[in-house]
Amino acid sequence: MLSILFLLVGTILAAASANPIALLPSYANPTTAHGQPGRGTISLTQIRNKAFIRNGPLDLAKTYHKYNIPLPADLAAAVARHRQPSRPKRSSDAHGSAETTPGPHDVEYLTTISIGTPPQNLSINIDTGSSDLWVFSAETTSSEVKGQTVYDPSLSSTAAQLQGATWQISYGDGSSSGGDVYLDRVALGGLTVAAQAVECARNVSGEFTADGSSDGLMGLGFGVINMVKPVRQKTFFENLQAGLDEAVFTADLKHGMPGRYNFGYVDSSAYTGDITYVPINSTDGYWGWTSPGYAVGSGAFKDEAIVGIADTGTTLLLLPSDIVADYYRQVDGAKYERNQGGYVFGCDVALPDFAFGVGHTAGGSPAMIKIPGKYVNYAPVGGSSTKCYGGIQSNDFIGASIFGDLALKAAFVVFDGGNMRIGWASKALP
Ligand SMILES: *[C@@H]1O[C@H](CO)[C@@H](O)[C@H](O)[C@H]1NC(C)=O
Ligand SMILES: *[C@@H]1O[C@H](CO)[C@@H](O)[C@H](O)[C@H]1NC(C)=O
Ligand SMILES: *[C@@H]1O[C@H](CO)[C@@H](O)[C@H](O)[C@H]1NC(C)=O
Repeated sequence: MLSILFLLVGTILAAASANPIALLPSYANPTTAHGQPGRGTISLTQIRNKAFIRNGPLDLAKTYHKYNIPLPADLAAAVARHRQPSRPKRSSDAHGSAETTPGPHDVEYLTTISIGTPPQNLSINIDTGSSDLWVFSAETTSSEVKGQTVYDPSLSSTAAQLQGATWQISYGDGSSSGGDVYLDRVALGGLTVAAQAVECARNVSGEFTADGSSDGLMGLGFGVINMVKPVRQKTFFENLQAGLDEAVFTADLKHGMPGRYNFGYVDSSAYTGDITYVPINSTDGYWGWTSPGYAVGSGAFKDEAIVGIADTGTTLLLLPSDIVADYYRQVDGAKYERNQGGYVFGCDVALPDFAFGVGHTAGGSPAMIKIPGKYVNYAPVGGSSTKCYGGIQSNDFIGASIFGDLALKAAFVVFDGGNMRIGWASKALP
């Protein structure tokens, strides 16, 4: 996965690549405060994808590509250095990832969805930072398929081509990819959309090809940034929303272990304290919200509006550079390394916690989500390096902060499409 670079989808990266978040349906009924979930609910358990190898500069670069922002020079150079030796050896690894050494905590999350009749099961990434459901398909150029499961609409009695519809993704290296669109039945655990737009890839970039474990992507942003032409299509959640008990889905991602997405209900056993809700701004198609500030370690809360988005498809936490600098000032030996395009530090250094505000409590004090310092140690910068890459990096040039998995896995997050708000609660952390 790490090698999934240069995935631009117009303004959004469909590829998700990075998206370490995907899940598998859990067939056990989730425990909820109100007993068994109703018909309009679903709960999914994430699985770890062992094939995923972390690489700080590459993961950071993916986010730039995702939002179609040119790489800062330092980062571009770091990516070039990391990318060269990372070319997968085609014969040796179906996952296509020969880069560096997989660390013990490397994770990517995949979800199984069923498409068509009879069901064809694919493992996809769920990405709240884009809005297309696209998959490897029987139409994908065969040389570009290396181990992925493909969706074959001709084998589905419920598939119907959406006449004249196409989708297109532009990649950072100037190539492009895209395909056509079928409407078919899509099921995620117990929930089904009868006529979901399933975007079938005709061709995909080498980076997708190299990730044999991911069969596609499910965007759960807002349909205004869906890439299907001439008529944009709704996301799975938008199609599902009216039929859910509550028009929400929740993300309960976990550090280094399986997490869970639920649809249609808020599991009150999954968090502690109260959920603090913040209005979202979905104008740009994202789950945009504004954090009121932050605190480093045991330091005081600092008021600073942090305009950002909640993006399960981004691995790291990207913040304004003043906040990032403030954080790393409190890490012994941490420094911005030009040749890595980001902050690095000794792998065994103690890292302070980082807390971000999510609103205010009834009493008026800041409500915060605290990210344990150990989460911020993202990965060694090279195979046997004693230097580690920070999971918090600057959002330079991106124009907004990105609350990626590093932040999301420290919280229980409610994506409330019914009330156009996002809710944050703390939870017991592993
Ligand atoms: C596909 O996934 C469903 C659950 O979504 C499962 O019940 C079924 O057994 C799977 N089918 C195959 C062929 O793996
Ligand atoms: C992928 O498909 C698009 C659209 O047909 C085409 O423009 C592009 O050249 C193709 N790329 C490759 C590498 O085949
Ligand atoms: C919502 O986002 C749009 C686009 O970024 C921006 O122009 C607008 O001012 C924002 N609205 C609010 C209420 O912040």
